[in-house]
Parts: sequence; structure tokens; C-alpha cells
Amino acid sequence: MRVVPLQSSGVRGHDNANVDFVRESFDSEAFGIEIGRIRAAYATSAAGYRLLFKSVLQRARAEHFQQVLRRTRLENLEEVWALEATGFEMMDVVVTFARSVAPAAALPVWPDLRVEEATDETFEVIAHERAAAFFVGIMEDRPAGYVTCVLHDHTGEGEIELVGTLPEFRGRRVATRIIERALPWFAERCRVVTVRTQATNIAAANLYERVGFTLRCTEATFRANVATALRAQP
Ligand SMILES: CC(C)(COP(=O)(O)OP(=O)(O)OC[C@H]1O[C@@H](n2cnc3c(N)ncnc32)[C@H](O)[C@@H]1OP(=O)(O)O)[C@@H](O)C(=O)NCCC(=O)NCCS
Repeated sequence: MRVVPLQSSGVRGHDNANVDFVRESFDSEAFGIEIGRIRAAYATSAAGYRLLFKSVLQRARAEHFQQVLRRTRLENLEEVWALEATGFEMMDVVVTFARSVAPAAALPVWPDLRVEEATDETFEVIAHERAAAFFVGIMEDRPAGYVTCVLHDHTGEGEIELVGTLPEFRGRRVATRIIERALPWFAERCRVVTVRTQATNIAAANLYERVGFTLRCTEATFRANVATALRAQP
């Protein structure tokens, strides 16, 4: 992690503005270009954010990054305006749902669907290093859907990272019930669980509300092509 205080980037007068800029290893390797991410940014005004993002872009160019990403809450209007003014473009919008969990007296069971925690072997192959647990729903003797469960030490919260039902099993409450089985697992380890999806994924948003999650926040991801954004600076 590199914390870049604004003053060290040569911009003065906004002492409490700061930004945390890191290399995005997974994306950089997947796409074969250097991609950085602004993990946190703070300024007291849109003008302060503009100076901050300009300094990040200059630094990104000096360190040979081609793209810079920033995800922020849509209600942070001053930051959103500053991102657009410095050459960032909106890529997508994601919604995060949250719900509290409490230990249950008994695990749910259903006659037509068996939900089980994946065996070590399956888990190693499919979810290695991505999840703490992995639930699979078996219907008609076949895997029909799955849910991956992540625990975040820094927030103490759990997260459902991936949910999927095979197309031929959709609409039969497979995802609903696998999540219902995963919730007691979370309840033994945390008090709040979150799940994030793209704002356009109506099926997933409906599913999460159906199992008791409520909308926590809406964020947009912005992307700047470093060279193009700097050329456009006034
Ligand atoms: C989203 C997904 C997991 C739902 O799986 P599913 O097993 O069919 O869901 P369920 O049958 O349990 O449906 C639960 C609720 O979700 C909502 N829902 C599911 N499919 C929907 C659709 N196509 N359109 C609108 N709402 C939908 C409904 O509210 C439904 O409740 P209802 O049947 O009482 O109306 C499945 O469509 C899928 O795998 N999609 C691709 C992967 C994905 O988008 N994953 C989530 C983001 S990571």
C-alpha cells in the first residue's frame, strides 16, 4: 500500500486532502496493462478533489500506469464531479446489500434440494483462496447452484461473493435456499453479511431482497486512460 499525501505530490494548500493509490495486480495481469486503483480519496471540496486526481494521474504516468480506476459512492457528488472533470469516465454502477444475521435454532432442510458445504477437494479446486466456505445445492442428483462465503477481518463482516444457479434450475428457489443455508454459517462468525452486484442485475437484486437484504449503498466505478486524461487537462 502506498499512501500519497497531496503535499508530497507538489500541491499545497489542502493539507488534509489525501489519496491511497495501489496497483491492481489481478486486473493488470489479466489485461496485460498496468492498472492502478484509487482505494481511498479525501478532499474538502470539488476543487480539492480535482487537484488530488490530477496529481494521481501525473504520478500514475511517472510510474508507467496506463489506467486508473476509482470506485466511489454516488452520493459523493463533489468527488464524482472532480473525477469527470479530470478525465475519468463512468464504467459501471454496483449496488451493495446488507443484512444482519443471528444464530438459528436449526439448519433449514428441503425435500427436493440438498444444500451442503463443499468438500475440501471441490473447494480447493473451485474456490481456492477466494472464499472461506462454499455451499452447493444438489437437486435431482446434480449440482444446481452455489454460493461462496468470504469473511473480512478488517470490517468483521461477511460477504457473499458469488452466487449462481445453472440455467436449467433457475426460478426454483435454488439460490434463495442456498443463501438461507449459508446465513447460519455466517451467523456463527459475524453479525452482518453484505452482497454486491451490478445495478443492472435485477434478478440478483430481487433475490437478495427476497432473502432479507436491504440496499446499503450505490457506487460507480470510474476509469481514466492516463495519457488521454492528462492531455485533456486545462
Ligand atoms: C440471480 C440468480 C442466482 C437467481 O437464481 P435462482 O435460483 O433462479 O433464484 P430463485 O429461484 O431463488 O429466485 C429468488 C428471487 O429472485 C428473483 N429473481 C430470480 N430470477 C429472476 C429474474 N429472471 N428476473 C427477476 N427476478 C428474478 C425473484 O424475486 C425470485 O423470487 P420469486 O420467485 O418469489 O419471485 C440466477 O439467475 C443466476 O445464476 N444468474 C447469473 C449469475 C448472477 O447474476 N449471479 C448474481 C450476481 S454475482
